[in-house]
Amino acid sequence: MIASNQNTEFARGLEGVVAAETRIGFVDGINGRLVYRGYNIEELAESSTFEEVTYLLLYGKLPNKSDLANFKNKLNADNHFDDKLFRVLQDCTKGSHPMSALRTGVSYLGGLDKNSNKSDLASQESMGLKLMGKFPSLVAAINRAYSGHEMIKSNEPDYTVRFLEESFGKKPSEFEVKVFRTALILHADHGMNASTFASMVAISTLSDMYSAVTAAISSLKGPLHGGANEQALELLERIGSAKNADKIVGEMLEKKEKIMGFGHRVYKVYDPRAKILKGYAKDLAKHTGKSELFETAEEVEKVMISKLGTKGIFPNVDFYSGIVYKSLGFDPKLFTPIFALSRISGWFARSLEYLHDNRLFRPRSMYKGEVGPIKYVPLEDRK
Ligand code: SDX
Repeated sequence: MIASNQNTEFARGLEGVVAAETRIGFVDGINGRLVYRGYNIEELAESSTFEEVTYLLLYGKLPNKSDLANFKNKLNADNHFDDKLFRVLQDCTKGSHPMSALRTGVSYLGGLDKNSNKSDLASQESMGLKLMGKFPSLVAAINRAYSGHEMIKSNEPDYTVRFLEESFGKKPSEFEVKVFRTALILHADHGMNASTFASMVAISTLSDMYSAVTAAISSLKGPLHGGANEQALELLERIGSAKNADKIVGEMLEKKEKIMGFGHRVYKVYDPRAKILKGYAKDLAKHTGKSELFETAEEVEKVMISKLGTKGIFPNVDFYSGIVYKSLGFDPKLFTPIFALSRISGWFARSLEYLHDNRLFRPRSMYKGEVGPIKYVPLEDRK
């Protein structure tokens, strides 16, 4: 008889299981509300910078002017890396997905940081700040390497502006900064999503923050999670125009295929982040005069809600984000690295929070194998 863990509840994919306590963020799946430390996401997206929101997630309050200045100085204290890493990123973006380059880049930086042998809170916080400080340049460099360009170094202190400048080699417009900064704020934190959970599992073993972020990047890459934004855009481009939406989506659903950018483990209503991104996607369509993609998306949304709305399937954050990023000039393969550019704040904040009252994550599994013991037969006697 196997020691009895057989009567414990088995929740596939840990669905509905509460695995930690937190004060950082709350996802209200019934009312379609997202809260960071008590603030509604809509207000933060409208009025804050990404650094203010990251500070809020990390330290529990919005910074005053001197807090913010000090925080930005810490992030920018050592915010670049040498050309050797850029060469590695160029090699990594030749054949594989840019998310593999991002995973490698974080590991490379961790390998250079002597602090990464430590696990005390202060060292974990300083590793996280150092890594976040480099992140805009790391993701921008991957964008440059992937598109066959040389790396650009900017001395711009703002997280959002530096990333856009180092990605495209020119000053972004105020509107572009506003849209992109809003997207970063919307993606910063989202409860115990798979990549955040992966970072917390790693940190719970007292591994280092670089390793925790590497684990998170590895998880975010998948199309059921962060990789959906790229695939949602590919689908919209394949559908081509609003008039094809009903037929193509209907055929896919017939074949039980998932429509990327729809559905959510927690939201059973419209994702509040998708609402805001849809507004910007519409503005950008007007701004650029290219509205076909947006019109197709709107029609796909209509078709999906008419067919699956009663099952609680609505657009999620990944459905309109791709249109926004493409309108800003990004290749779809960079969409998920851009998701990571934001979500590093949530991974970092939740890993640090968890360490304050750490408990190794070690769930159990329901053994369904042979009870045994089966008689052992030496190799020479096996048929
Ligand atoms: C993100 O966790 C987070 O917070 C994640 C995230 C964050 O900020 O970190 O919000 C970011 O990852 C958003 C999700 C991005 N992924 C996608 O858009 C991929 C497509 N979506 C689905 O794979 C799905 O909706 C999930 C994975 C997101 C959630 O799936 P669940 O909770 O495991 O639900 P399920 O797969 O069990 O589906 C329940 C039913 C099924 O039908 P039945 O078998 O009951 O008949 O709904 C159907 C599914 O087939 N369904 C879909 C669908 N999503 C669910 N059918 C078609 N298209 C879809 N997108």
